[in-house]
Amino acid sequence: LAAIEVDLAPLEEGQSITVNWRGNPVFVRYRTGAEIEEAKAVPIGELRDPYARNPALPEDAPASDVNRVIEGKEQYLIQIGVCTHLGCVPIGESGDFDGWFCPCHGSHYDTAGRIRKGPAPENLPIPPYEYITDSKVRIG
Ligand code: FES
Repeated sequence: LAAIEVDLAPLEEGQSITVNWRGNPVFVRYRTGAEIEEAKAVPIGELRDPYARNPALPEDAPASDVNRVIEGKEQYLIQIGVCTHLGCVPIGESGDFDGWFCPCHGSHYDTAGRIRKGPAPENLPIPPYEYITDSKVRIG
């Protein structure tokens, strides 16, 4: 199935875009330094879902902030925007953990897209992607 290319260069710090990949929304966020620090400060033991959910890593890779992104590109969080509870699309920059909030049944995700509160069982999944230039990624 089709891969898509996304140019990250037009994004400014604190901005997000949603792109469509295989019929699903994919959230691309240029995170602020404060958002990254906030995510890094959370002990893995406090996370409901301790796994990174990143197909580039082993299945049991921990959900540390760096495992949710590509090292050296920590500012860009790219994740599938489908709530792991029943599939609604969460709203960005909202919720109790400054990340995403799913209004369907009240799931709160943090600034690394990890589930922190509400009924969703898992972190938002990371799609397979890679950098094809310094500022362009191919998803899929
Ligand atoms: Fe998101 Fe239920 S679908 S909380």
